[in-house]
Amino acid sequence: MAGRVCPHWVGYLLINPLRKLFENPNKILGPFVQEGMMVLEPGCGMGYFTLPLARMVGPTGRIVVVDIQPKMLSALRRRAQKAGLLDRIELRHIRDDGLGVKDLSGKVDFAVALHVVHEVPDQASFFTEVRHALKQGSKLLVVEPKGHVSQDRFAESVATAENVGFVSEVLSKKVGGRVALLVKKIN
Ligand SMILES: C[S@@+](CC[C@H](N)C(=O)[O-])C[C@H]1O[C@@H](n2cnc3c(N)ncnc32)[C@H](O)[C@@H]1O
Repeated sequence: MAGRVCPHWVGYLLINPLRKLFENPNKILGPFVQEGMMVLEPGCGMGYFTLPLARMVGPTGRIVVVDIQPKMLSALRRRAQKAGLLDRIELRHIRDDGLGVKDLSGKVDFAVALHVVHEVPDQASFFTEVRHALKQGSKLLVVEPKGHVSQDRFAESVATAENVGFVSEVLSKKVGGRVALLVKKIN
């Protein structure tokens, strides 16, 4: 069951620097991202996580972001340009009937779905497409907002991902909340 897509003006709230106090991109993503990686980020919004990701992958890496709202992407483009990171970020506007990442098949080193899965109408297709883009054995980090997503609903999303070929990895107890690390199962 999908929730309502967050209105574009909420995107401005989500890039508030104070968010770092309870959701620090470097702490959340740092353990998984290395220089030179290709990272896929569906549901990027205005890029709260995208700019730190672009810094982590360095000049030889690439972040492919996809979003259904052009206004989110145009704000992200402006912010990336200002930060001198635009050449590391590929922005894709998609309809809500697919992620439009077939061309990335087996090329992605790491994927993130940050506060987006609950907004996606067809989660099985979403996870299938992300899985297809990932290299064998590579990982998808899913983080959902506790305020909008109950523990049961989160468990349903994780089960959906497992049904399409992800294996859920156990995370340290220190990582609280609605967080799952999903590994692309080797066929
Ligand atoms: C709550 S915002 C989170 C943005 C960002 N990840 C963050 O944490 O700041 C969710 C974003 O996902 C996008 N979105 C919703 N459904 C989507 C879908 N089916 N495919 C791609 N993006 C989607 C929305 O347009 C919005 O930008």
